[in-house]
Amino acid sequence: MCGIIGYTGKRQAAEVLLEGLRNLEYRGYDSAGIALFTQSGLKTYKAQGRLSQLEALLGENLPDGQCGIGHTRWATHGVPSDINSHPHASGSVTLVHNGILENYMELREQLLRKGRTFVSQTDTEVIAQWLDEEYQRDHEPAAAIRRALPSLKGSYALGILFADRPGVLYAVRKDSPLIVGQGQGENLIASDITAILPYTRDYLLVEENELAIVTPEKVQLFSPIGEPVDREFCHADWDVTAAQKGGYAHFMRKEIDEQPRALEATISPRMASGHIDFSADGVEDAFLSDFHSIQIVACGTAMHAGMIGKYLIESLARVPVSVNIASEYRYSDPIVGKDDLVIIVSQSGETADTLAALRLAKERGARTLAIVNVVGSSIAREAERVLYTYAGPEIAVASTKAYSVQVAMFYLLALHISRLKGTLSAERLSACEKALLAIPQTVKAALETSPLCKKMAADLAEASDLFYIGRGLDYCLSMEGSLKLKEISYLHSEAYAAGELKHGTISLITEKVPVIAIVTQPGLQEKMVSNMQAVRARDGFVLAICQEDAVLPSDAADRVLRLPGPAIDPLFAPLAAIVPLQLIAYEIAVLRGCDVDKPRNLAKSVTVE
Ligand code: AGP
Repeated sequence: MCGIIGYTGKRQAAEVLLEGLRNLEYRGYDSAGIALFTQSGLKTYKAQGRLSQLEALLGENLPDGQCGIGHTRWATHGVPSDINSHPHASGSVTLVHNGILENYMELREQLLRKGRTFVSQTDTEVIAQWLDEEYQRDHEPAAAIRRALPSLKGSYALGILFADRPGVLYAVRKDSPLIVGQGQGENLIASDITAILPYTRDYLLVEENELAIVTPEKVQLFSPIGEPVDREFCHADWDVTAAQKGGYAHFMRKEIDEQPRALEATISPRMASGHIDFSADGVEDAFLSDFHSIQIVACGTAMHAGMIGKYLIESLARVPVSVNIASEYRYSDPIVGKDDLVIIVSQSGETADTLAALRLAKERGARTLAIVNVVGSSIAREAERVLYTYAGPEIAVASTKAYSVQVAMFYLLALHISRLKGTLSAERLSACEKALLAIPQTVKAALETSPLCKKMAADLAEASDLFYIGRGLDYCLSMEGSLKLKEISYLHSEAYAAGELKHGTISLITEKVPVIAIVTQPGLQEKMVSNMQAVRARDGFVLAICQEDAVLPSDAADRVLRLPGPAIDPLFAPLAAIVPLQLIAYEIAVLRGCDVDKPRNLAKSVTVE
């Protein structure tokens, strides 16, 4: 969603802000702008479209000034336009905003009655005007901010400048993320760490409704009631190159290849003793015991990882599990309480629907465990316990390595809960733990299918509709494979339980509708083969993805893509089979000339409803 950066220090602020906004582009945006304290006062420059539009507006010689704020906007209230772009100014106040002001119409009406007028359609301008109204009372920035905040309903991360406070950045947040970066004689604010990495790796997390006052020499944090807050700085291990493409054509392709390392980084620390142990994560065995059911809640790819989690926990630990779409869950009046464990899955840890579902589960008294990739994100901080995945920064909008490590976390959880409940024999448990430790190598072998996936993509790239089919774990995989294709290649596809095709949907199968059949489960292979033969009997084209040693009748598929390497325990096949599905989607998107890392209409983190 929107990206925020602010700078105050010795450099030319415009260059720092533009550099930071470039690093934030991956969040998805439709306009950008900066505001600077220049020799001739506080100036704002903003333009609809890509950053290049803003750079054209600024011209060759960037404006002077050593303090300012910048913003990339993802439109929520008000269409993408120059005037609706941020920063927004009102009187002495100029600010940028990430989030949604839910009561903006009510506040706008009150301000209109006070004689104020508006130039944009945005909720953000309402905040600027509301804050200026308070500021004009006493020209005290911190006091004015504290008086204004209680009226703001909704989510916000704000970077604020006051015209008569040159060189000072003010920042405050509620629900939307915000950090403060500390440099040498220079300091920054940002929505996330990638914006400030070129200048510092040391940063502070701004907590709910805390106020940060930032000058080149000093970073101060204050509680909502104005008390100074003393907080430890965090240190970002992700250097800028980790967030750069490193020689790949796209972040997504790089991140597909990073999966073995990400899996290693996520699995190993929890198996240091040879057995699964979450104590270093602060997740005690008691927290993972004595509950009636588990409810997994997430969106998109994270929800697809949860589908695998359901299968694993139910089959290994014999605990009833439901998988819930967060945007449905939060409005469904869910039957959840103190006897339930709610597992919240989110790569970004900032997805609005998922965060809301977490808060609802907590209100209802449920135990909440988050599986999150971004350290210190809102979901991570608000859940009772958190298990971090260590995929590193995932820049491509389409999730790949984050999905794999979420699935890996569910293997760890399912096996650990089965151990606590004694539902698996010692032999089976030991074999599973060994298979899990070997997963990074298994996935590394699956990456060798890349050339074949590139060839297969050519067979599929001209289709306008495709099906992904599977049974059991393979059906869960088909959901993720289908989403990958849709979101980056803009081709329509549908995931379907293979056994369900015959109940109507098979009428859509023609020679123009290819079917990708995922067949990694020996116990379901016979049924899968008959589904594949039924598709081919209707002139459908079938690409089968199966294990190295699978024996398929010649009339079951037109193409067969085998997962290389020694036979994989079928229970662990999903972590290998997802790789060709990601690669095929990627190669088709490249063939179709799509913007693979930043697909149209999508954002990396959907921090608004
Ligand atoms: C993933 O490819 C998608 N871009 C999207 O479905 C994503 O998984 C979803 O928005 C949830 O994001 P989160 O994991 O950061 O909460």
